[in-house]
Amino acid sequence: MRILFLTRSFNGLAQRLYLELTALGHEVAVEFDISDAVSLEAVALWQPTLVVAPYLTRAIPQALWRHTPCLVVHPGIVGDRGPSALDWAVAEAAPEWGVTVLQAEAEMDAGPVWAGETFPMREASKSSLYRHEVTAAAARAVVRAVQHFTATGAPPAQAAAAGVARGRWRPLMTQADRAIDWQHDDTATVLRKIRAADGAPGVSDALFGQPCQLFDARSAPRPASASYTPGQVVGRRHEAVLRATTDGLVALGHVRRPDGPHPFKLPTTLAFPAEIAALPAWPGALDDGSDPDIRYETPCDGVGALHFDFYNGAVSTAQCMRLREALCRVLTRPPRVLVLFGGTDFWCNGIHLNVIEAADSPADESWRNINAIDDVTQTLIEATGCLVIAAMQGSAGAGGVFMALAADRVWARPGVVLNPHYKNMGNLYGSEYWTYLLPRRPGPPSAADVMGRRLPLSARQARALGLLDDVFGDSAPAFRAQVLLRAASLAASADLPGSLQAKHARRLHDEAVKPLATYREEELARMRRNFYGFDPSYHVARSNFVRRVAPSWTPRHLAIHRRI
Ligand code: COA
Repeated sequence: MRILFLTRSFNGLAQRLYLELTALGHEVAVEFDISDAVSLEAVALWQPTLVVAPYLTRAIPQALWRHTPCLVVHPGIVGDRGPSALDWAVAEAAPEWGVTVLQAEAEMDAGPVWAGETFPMREASKSSLYRHEVTAAAARAVVRAVQHFTATGAPPAQAAAAGVARGRWRPLMTQADRAIDWQHDDTATVLRKIRAADGAPGVSDALFGQPCQLFDARSAPRPASASYTPGQVVGRRHEAVLRATTDGLVALGHVRRPDGPHPFKLPTTLAFPAEIAALPAWPGALDDGSDPDIRYETPCDGVGALHFDFYNGAVSTAQCMRLREALCRVLTRPPRVLVLFGGTDFWCNGIHLNVIEAADSPADESWRNINAIDDVTQTLIEATGCLVIAAMQGSAGAGGVFMALAADRVWARPGVVLNPHYKNMGNLYGSEYWTYLLPRRPGPPSAADVMGRRLPLSARQARALGLLDDVFGDSAPAFRAQVLLRAASLAASADLPGSLQAKHARRLHDEAVKPLATYREEELARMRRNFYGFDPSYHVARSNFVRRVAPSWTPRHLAIHRRI
């Protein structure tokens, strides 16, 4: 069936639905919701049987939904309506939430229900829930709705679609609804408020007397003897500042200063460089849980697990340096098997484009950042004393994918989406030793198949191509549990010493054939041109990306109807 996606952007959820539907044999073209006229033109060109709207922030024009059935994905339970569905569910700590697929009609979110799915809620940010539970439920619901559409062409009876309607109309959540009362709110309340607004729009607040929006909040351990005034900023830990609540501390990792020199999200310490200079740096260790992002644990005999949960999967120069330091510390007395869990939402998305954008010289900062992530990747490639597993519980993009390929085994859960290419960021050539790591994969996958295409890959496609070694686990917790079981069995295996010897020998052989330094030099020569050359594409693409500039056209590789 020909399907047109009408969507505000090709976000993670849209990518996942695209992969699910194309895997079922449907032909999917994508048009960004730019204007009614452009949407109607797309329908005229593609002549779809069905329009699917994975992510829309405004109504579909009547001329469109009257002409072609339009199925809209709403991130709320059946009956829920309004623009802040998930925000309310997080803010009010709903025990269960869901996704509804309904047909567009004159009234927003009020058309016939085609499918509905529910899931238990987790204590997490809105964006984390969106990337895991909502995306998984939307995939199930849309596939069911499309199958039903193919079979009957008419919506199922309400009860068959999704059970009884339990939701109701909820208004737009305003900043007044989100406001933090630092004098009275405890840690759980502050976290819930910020999580209900993360990744957008954030909670409007102030730090150091300056207005800003807060994101990326985590609870932080408070020294037993310490007492603080609620609301007081008491210190900093790496990129986060620590602020007192009525009963503890929260680490505020990212802020946006709408009136500041860089009006996009930044690590808090970078957004307030002068103000944080006077703050005490909080002590902590890799394994005491005090770090907001990097954490090491030894869950079972012979297995070490390194988590690097960087906000949005973006890793700045400073974070790369901390990650490499953590790796080096682990590798001084390596576990037999080292599992790299990356972050919960994203395994890694490569260099930190926002931090780069805010630098005095973005070109210089790009250069520092790519070198720092190369250093991390090199440390992983050279870790011949243990078996390294990259375990992707979250999706990965660009350099983050290639960093994972430095591991000996690369595993992912089925819902993971990979974007193993750099081209979408202004034609970046890419580094992270991809020219070494890609050809050494079994197969090997062709560079054209991986780097040449700009489309996402499902975990199963990535496995078929040879980018992943295995795909398993129904959910992120089930995946993590199975990873640890498999890692423990590898650590206990009598074959492990032999595998490590073979790994060491292969590294020596590869180095003799062509040193890692040469791969790096060649890749960085191309990157130097991206950063410092006459073609500004990368700088333009990065600026638009970090400022979330709404696209004015749909890229050709998505708008396949425009090739006709
Ligand atoms: N640097 C800074 N921020 C990044 C980032 C990066 N490398 N990658 C993702 N993000 C941020 C996005 O800006 C967005 O921020 P928001 O919370 O303010 O909305 C958030 O992460 C989620 O990204 P989004 O693009 O909405 O997620 P997605 O699932 O739709 O797409 C990617 C995932 C990886 C395809 C997409 O984010 C991407 O292309 N990232 C850039 C990858 C890259 O080019 N890295 C540099 C080269 S190594």
